[in-house]
Amino acid sequence: MNKTRARITSLGRCLPERIMTNADLEKIVDTNDEWIRTRTGIEQRHVVEPGTPTSVIAARAAAEALERRGIAASEIDLIIVATVTPDMLFPATACIIQDKLKATKAWGFDISAACSGFLYALTMGAQFIASGAHKKVLVIGADVMSSILDYTDRTTCVLFGDAAGAVLLEPGEGDEGLLDFLHEVDGSGANYLYMPGGGSLNPPTHETVDKRMHFIRQEGAHVFKYAVRKFAETSKNLLDRNGLTTDQIDCFVAHQANVRIIDAASERLGLDEAKVIKNIHRYGNTTAATIPLALGTALDEKKLKPGDLLLMASVGAGFTVGSALCRWSGFDWK
Ligand code: UT7
Repeated sequence: MNKTRARITSLGRCLPERIMTNADLEKIVDTNDEWIRTRTGIEQRHVVEPGTPTSVIAARAAAEALERRGIAASEIDLIIVATVTPDMLFPATACIIQDKLKATKAWGFDISAACSGFLYALTMGAQFIASGAHKKVLVIGADVMSSILDYTDRTTCVLFGDAAGAVLLEPGEGDEGLLDFLHEVDGSGANYLYMPGGGSLNPPTHETVDKRMHFIRQEGAHVFKYAVRKFAETSKNLLDRNGLTTDQIDCFVAHQANVRIIDAASERLGLDEAKVIKNIHRYGNTTAATIPLALGTALDEKKLKPGDLLLMASVGAGFTVGSALCRWSGFDWK
């Protein structure tokens, strides 16, 4: 069957200028650099100036992707934004970005799949290319995690950072582009990583704010074990059903939540360490932005070349699990 595959033809990133180091966190919460480094691998994270919404950093990443490709925003057909920190509950952040970019013919929507959001959005965008409905789809992963972090809770506030990443999807040729994906949801995980307040279950009141329900809550150890198991299991199942072995993977881009999760999952998969992309030490966990940022790191470090077989994987709140295989076609990267 002759199927059009979506390929990534550009990428843009936005990392806020302000950097919060582990030493900065030591001053505001009972933590220390040694704990954060050894338990998570994180050394610093970027954070927006308070009051900067997700749409601002997302639009910057998108504009960089468009500029790199040399096309106008008016050529974009569709904008899909993965985020758990939308500017507002509605309208969708995609609409605000459409206006900021002046992407005059684009439609768009947001998806909420936390750390798996980018992979879900990527594979969704790819379907519009595969069907022939669209030729240019902008997929953005962006989160201002600092807006939902409780900086008195050392078990969560040290983990996350703010950032945005955007890719452009266009029709590929031959075997290049997105080959396959395997996504799962295990909704029984909803109580291990969540933000209880602000939605229809617990609409905002003085009481919900007093109880700090508008901040992230996580049972880290449970999420950790689930993540290691599912990263490896889902990626292996995806490879198996494509008749591939781990040796054939040239580059592994996983969601960056904890360097120990990435290492343990890579080891289970039997992946050569040189093929595993890590940048969590610089950025922390930026939720929907980690995968496009890590693709950028792979390109910076020349670990992702045209013709390479790329495996991407994520686990996030929900629980949501994602895995995708891509034959990288490449584009100018400076
Ligand atoms: O991206 C979405 C998915 N999220 C994840 O994948 C996160 C998965 N979980 C993790 O990465 C890890 O579980 C954490 C990094 C969150 C925690 O690491 P851990 O090794 O599982 O530590 P723990 O929660 O079992 O806590 C161990 C100790 C506790 O002290 P006690 O009870 O043993 O005295 C914590 O209170 O470490 C303490 N602790 C800290 N100490 C200093 C927890 N956070 C901190 C901190 N600084 N920031």
